[in-house]
Amino acid sequence: MSISEHKRGFFAEQGRGGKRPLLTVSDLSAYYGELRALFDIDFEVMPGEVLAIIGANGAGKSTLLKSMVGMMNRGKTAHITGTIDMRGRRLERLTTEKIVNAGVTMVPEGRRLFPRLTVEENLITGAHLARCRNNSEEKISEMYDMFPRLAERHNQVVNQMSGGEQQMVAIARALMSDPQVVLFDELSLGLAPAIVDDIYEKVNQINESGVTCIVIEQDMKRALRVSNHVLVLLEGAVVLEGDPKELDGEQVMAAYFGSDIGGASA
Ligand SMILES: Nc1ncnc2c1ncn2[C@@H]1O[C@H](COP(=O)(O)OP(=O)(O)OP(=O)(O)O)[C@@H](O)[C@H]1O
Ligand SMILES: [Mg+2]
Repeated sequence: MSISEHKRGFFAEQGRGGKRPLLTVSDLSAYYGELRALFDIDFEVMPGEVLAIIGANGAGKSTLLKSMVGMMNRGKTAHITGTIDMRGRRLERLTTEKIVNAGVTMVPEGRRLFPRLTVEENLITGAHLARCRNNSEEKISEMYDMFPRLAERHNQVVNQMSGGEQQMVAIARALMSDPQVVLFDELSLGLAPAIVDDIYEKVNQINESGVTCIVIEQDMKRALRVSNHVLVLLEGAVVLEGDPKELDGEQVMAAYFGSDIGGASA
């Protein structure tokens, strides 16, 4: 889909692949007080896919993810309008806890772990929902199978661990609630490329186990490589979306930087 088609609101890909969307975001706008960070965003998330969201610094990527997990509807100033529908259930007014309970969870930018708690204690904080508490031991051992490094270090306080290890803790903690959808904000931030490869290997494994993944990734090439569908945000609006295998690299760059190619007004 070209930039201009998107601007005209032509959603050729709605219900893409003939599947019913898992999440439908419609007309979503987000505000920090007077500052408007998102402008009438529309997109769908298909079950089982990896959706990548790319865009320059300040484009609104984190705000979009925060909006989807109830973190933009808490205070008096930060608020959203529009709808977020998960198979008939409306999420936009729910608390984060209810959204996690509905099956959507986030690995936030900067990980947000409890630095003085151990690996295992951090994992347990991810299982605070009533439906998860009963099987938290089982879930922890599942996480240790998936992340053997965390098993070895289960008693270590997380602020004594490497950035990559901490990112693994953050991912494992998110998985403790048995989510259907995981939103990953800037997984690779500040990590060495080899470690980023390991982390994306885990994302792939999580996706293959049936979990729908939404990733924000600064590395555009990686984002296009790991995803089945990509959204490009520019100044709070979706300016391009499509299958990364079909999108033209130049078009993606133009959307990302807000420059004009081929006569389409961006
Ligand atoms: N807590 C906040 N209070 C006020 N404005 C904010 C807040 N958080 C973000 N913004 C503003 O909202 C806009 C979108 O920010 P956001 O953090 O969503 O961008 P981003 O695409 O995630 O950027 P980055 O790549 O730097 O993480 C920016 O103009 C930013 O300054
Ligand atoms: Mg961000």
